[in-house]
Amino acid sequence: MKILVIHGPNLDLLGEREVSIYGKLTLDQINVEINNLAKELNVETEIVQLSGEGEIVKKIGSSKKEGFSAIVINPAGYTHYSVAIRDAVAAVSIPTVEVHLSNIYAREEFRHTSVIAGAATGQVSGFGLNSYLLGLKAAVELTK
Ligand code: DQA
Repeated sequence: MKILVIHGPNLDLLGEREVSIYGKLTLDQINVEINNLAKELNVETEIVQLSGEGEIVKKIGSSKKEGFSAIVINPAGYTHYSVAIRDAVAAVSIPTVEVHLSNIYAREEFRHTSVIAGAATGQVSGFGLNSYLLGLKAAVELTK
């Protein structure tokens, strides 16, 4: 079983970006932990970091054809306004878990709305690295 993990824009800067909010782990370190858990759960992953909205839309759109059973996505800044990414999630109809390192509901008001959440199967927000790990576990469960 293959799970697609998508990191959105600016997540490539983790480790140096607003450390008090996002922590010190780099994206590479997060990816190692995701892959360690994936091994334990006996699933394959493809992990991509995509900065462009169109690139994310395209990757989600081809995910079913590419044989993915579920998606874990941190849409980053697009969370709060990308109707195109929401529509892509709704269009592919495979289980999708939205994740956020920070608790978006405890931050600035413009972050309190996720336009993706209504199309996703569920959301994990506020647990740092564990948001991804819980998201991956949920995604695997959803495929059973
Ligand atoms: C984020 C939260 C978003 O509001 C922000 O734009 C990000 C990261 C998170 O993981 O906490 O880039 O998705």
